[in-house]
Amino acid sequence: MRIPEKIETKRLVLRKLNHVDAPAIYEGIKVKDVSRWLTAVPYPYPKDLALKFVLESILEFENAKGFSFGIVIKGKTKEPAGLVTLDRLDYGNKSAALGYWLGKKHWGQGYMSEAVKEVLSFGFHTLKLHRIWSNVYPENPASERILLKSGFILEGREREKYFKEGAWRDYLYYGLLEEEYK
Ligand SMILES: CC(C)(COP(=O)(O)OP(=O)(O)OC[C@H]1O[C@@H](n2cnc3c(N)ncnc32)[C@H](O)[C@@H]1OP(=O)(O)O)[C@@H](O)C(=O)NCCC(=O)NCCS
Repeated sequence: MRIPEKIETKRLVLRKLNHVDAPAIYEGIKVKDVSRWLTAVPYPYPKDLALKFVLESILEFENAKGFSFGIVIKGKTKEPAGLVTLDRLDYGNKSAALGYWLGKKHWGQGYMSEAVKEVLSFGFHTLKLHRIWSNVYPENPASERILLKSGFILEGREREKYFKEGAWRDYLYYGLLEEEYK
């Protein structure tokens, strides 16, 4: 299995992270509207966490445990404006989790749909996965729309799973199987 360190789409370059990307990751993720629906990301976001995250992501990538691709927008950004990730790799069961975020100023231009399309191809064609899954809060319709547009099926809803921003939040489970992707 040959893992590409760089995947090109029409408008994007998806590439393995480098330690010098930490400040760009910090600038994007520290914004509350970006981090608010990412369960593992704290707000406020401590600056040193970005470098720790980037270094861990590089190690995971090199050990094929998870693949975080920085999203560089051709002609607009030199550094990653966001991330699209396949992690929680379970090679025995051929499954992985999809996650993503994009810097707020780049929202609404179809970039994440474009990035997700390529990463799904990477997951199903290169990694030969059988199943890719993702979680989303019902209060995050832009993210849910990306999953639905990409063919994901709603598989379940955990009621009031997280207490976030002063309220109990449900959590939705989406999945996409190899044969549904084709
Ligand atoms: C979710 C996120 C990645 C979307 O990125 P993006 O590049 O703006 O997404 P796209 O433009 O490719 O697609 C968004 C889709 O949602 C739709 N959308 C946007 N806001 C919406 C809303 N409030 N209600 C319904 N649909 C909405 C858009 O119209 C678009 O659908 P379309 O292509 O059919 O028109 C970005 O908003 C983000 O980083 N949010 C914070 C982090 C996050 O939520 N990550 C996902 C956690 S599960």
